[in-house]
Amino acid sequence: MYDFIQKFHSGWAYLALLLLVVAVANSTLGFLSKREFFAKDKKIALFALIVTHIQLTVGLVLYFLSPLGLSAFGDMKNAALRLTSLEHPLTNVIAIILITIGWSKHKKALEGKNKFKAIAIFYGLGLLLILSRIPWSLWF
Ligand code: HEM
Repeated sequence: MYDFIQKFHSGWAYLALLLLVVAVANSTLGFLSKREFFAKDKKIALFALIVTHIQLTVGLVLYFLSPLGLSAFGDMKNAALRLTSLEHPLTNVIAIILITIGWSKHKKALEGKNKFKAIAIFYGLGLLLILSRIPWSLWF
């Protein structure tokens, strides 16, 4: 069970990061070019939202199964364990909250330029937070 969830979380991370990069790039370009917000722009942001929420759910399950998750919590002097048991989970939960706020702000916005802006800013911040706390040495 642990093995499967760990591999899933590791592989799904590629999809989550790819879709976030695409959503941030698409909304930034849309904002800068002052173009209309089309259904495809909404779809890109929605796919990124869904995929990151799936990653969050799997991450939460992994946190209870992994020897590097909850069971490693407490040894805060060990930087690698502090990363996987505290910094990575906490930062990613905050990042996904920001992404969700961005989605909801885009829905409330009436003008296309404000829709693009909400996605670019909130998804962009979320992406930066996620990238800042990936356990790169475990991943590659
Ligand atoms: C979009 C959000 C997230 C991304 C992109 C992400 C990505 C990753 C990556 C690339 C790894 C290294 C995988 C490997 O060992 O090959 C990892 C490990 C881990 N992640 Fe996440 N993660 C996210 C969210 C979360 C959340 C929300 C939690 C917990 C609440 C979490 C818990 C963990 C744990 C415990 C590990 C260490 C697993 C192990 O190797 O045993 N992750 N994550």
